[in-house]
Amino acid sequence: SHIKDVQFVKSSARARDCPKDNRPEFAVLGRSNVGKSSLINSLVRKKEIALTSKKPGKTQLINHFLVNKSWYLVDLPGYGFAKAPEAAKTDWSSFTKGYFLNKSTLVAVLLLIDASVPPQKIDLDCANWLGRNNIPITFVFTKCDKMKVAKGKRPDENIRDFQELIRQNYKQHPPWIMTSSATGMGRDELLLHMSQLRNY
Ligand code: GTP
Ligand code: MG
Repeated sequence: SHIKDVQFVKSSARARDCPKDNRPEFAVLGRSNVGKSSLINSLVRKKEIALTSKKPGKTQLINHFLVNKSWYLVDLPGYGFAKAPEAAKTDWSSFTKGYFLNKSTLVAVLLLIDASVPPQKIDLDCANWLGRNNIPITFVFTKCDKMKVAKGKRPDENIRDFQELIRQNYKQHPPWIMTSSATGMGRDELLLHMSQLRNY
């Protein structure tokens, strides 16, 4: 699962513009600001190969990163960004759904869930949509380093609440991993998990 090489390949506005080869790929999906681009940087140990921002809505296109010349990590625009222009919102569902439904090379979706906040309806809706469409997912809980919450629950409690809500919709609970791009927590575990999925 060692990463020797990573290259940015291209940004695509539409599913049909994405690279067309048979390399396996993992899509990184989740709410705006959940830490998708940060997770990619942490996995490949490059500070800013995927651009990040404190403000939601940073990633606007489908970005393909080629790892070890053999598989793709795909950075997607976030969903649930209230301030996004209406046009961009409509675009999201058409292009991302088009991407997911026509991808025979998709190994799994890494669905990122912010562990520093309680379960969000939009994340549950997304997980359920992927489940209904038989798209394999791995839950990647992000920001697990954020232990000092002024009020509310700790990350492990938010994760437990999220799992409880998901249980009703899945016969088998999808795999899940706790991560932090700030501390590197879960990084090796996630890389190993992805290498196992690729080799099935
Ligand atoms: P969009 O591209 O807008 O959809 O956002 P994104 O999901 O790619 O989020 P991004 O990686 O740009 O990170 C958003 C903010 O969260 C940045 O300020 C990051 O520094 C911060 N962040 C990301 N991951 C972590 C984490 O594991 N821990 C902490 N504490 N902050 C994080
Ligand atoms: Mg991003």
